[in-house]
Amino acid sequence: MKALVLESVKKLSVRDYPINETAGPYDVKIQIKACGICGSDIHYYLEGAIGDFVVKEPMILGHEAAGIILEKGEQVNHLAVGDLVCMEPGIPSAFSPEALSGNYNLDPDVVFWATPPVHGCLRETVVHPARFCFKLPRGLSAAEGAMMEPLAIGIEAAKKGRITPGDTALVIGAGAIGTLAAVSASAGGCSRVFISDVKEEKLSIAGSYPNVVPINTGKADLADTVMKETGGRGVDLIIEASGSPKVYPGFFRCAKRGGKAVLVGMMNGTVPIDVALLQGRGISIETIFRYTNAFDRAAALVSAGKIDIKRLISKTFAFADAVAAYEYAAAGHPDVVKVMIELA
Ligand SMILES: NC(=O)c1ccc[n+]([C@@H]2O[C@H](COP(=O)([O-])OP(=O)(O)OC[C@H]3O[C@@H](n4cnc5c(N)ncnc54)[C@H](O)[C@@H]3O)[C@@H](O)[C@H]2O)c1
Ligand SMILES: [Zn+2]
Repeated sequence: MKALVLESVKKLSVRDYPINETAGPYDVKIQIKACGICGSDIHYYLEGAIGDFVVKEPMILGHEAAGIILEKGEQVNHLAVGDLVCMEPGIPSAFSPEALSGNYNLDPDVVFWATPPVHGCLRETVVHPARFCFKLPRGLSAAEGAMMEPLAIGIEAAKKGRITPGDTALVIGAGAIGTLAAVSASAGGCSRVFISDVKEEKLSIAGSYPNVVPINTGKADLADTVMKETGGRGVDLIIEASGSPKVYPGFFRCAKRGGKAVLVGMMNGTVPIDVALLQGRGISIETIFRYTNAFDRAAALVSAGKIDIKRLISKTFAFADAVAAYEYAAAGHPDVVKVMIELA
């Protein structure tokens, strides 16, 4: 079948790739209709590795996808041939201690699309466990369905933030993940969500959502601005989604006494944390690693009109132009949030 293959660092091609998969009793076979490009896909494309995950052989990219069910195994009852579904890309082993304790995202043996040596799903068809496929509510497109994967990160951050209706939040970083965390926090009950970045273009997209207030930290001091806007108290919840070591430990000063910080942004190396400040203000820290049970919630919020996801799809390419799509995404245009590839 045709696939977008990372042949080696900075070398991509759309070509025939020999994959012969058949759906087992609990699987479905899906015709891929849309697949977004993620920051991790770009890392593998440009650098051939993320930490210990090194691309050693040609690998199909893509893990943010939606498509139509072509076949289903005899034990699959909750989905039908013809359904438009989005897919959760990481499959844990069902009986791992982590899965059994409810943290299936932490299973060290999880098999995750486009994480070497596992192939991704930017190809004509894919076989996937039906339990990790979610029927999209009527009215959602395949491209919107492909956005459920990054939105699931935002939902997970909001969930770990244990939002009480009326809370205020601050999200650091207005990339795809930060913006999706901000709209998730807003949909989850926050009355105002500040979002900071150093790029005006990103802030203007994030700031186009209701209740999301942009702060350009190239021009204004973050803590001063947040304190002024919150009557000197700070925000209930901070979501760090820039992955920039430079924001540490300063942003903790924006938290209200008894507030929370959810760390989403990833980085190599370590950062300083002011333990006495955290203790004195009673600030608790949570982290997230991907998500659990978030895809159906993400789709339901979009379907309910609580989150407009289409706005974040900046440019769409045809599958035949997938290499151009990756080059465009890798160029890092400041006004681009998500690049989408659609398959006929
Ligand atoms: N924990 C998880 O499971 C998980 C999942 C997906 C992504 N991530 C991480 O989330 C982070 C964001 O991902 P993304 O795809 O949105 O990346 P991105 O590069 O598109 O966005 C990062 C944003 O942070 C901004 N930024 C940089 N320095 C800043 C600063 N000093 N202050 C404020 N903003 C600043 C950048 O301008 C950019 O807009 C990355 O670190 C990524 O690895 C974590
Ligand atoms: Zn992704």
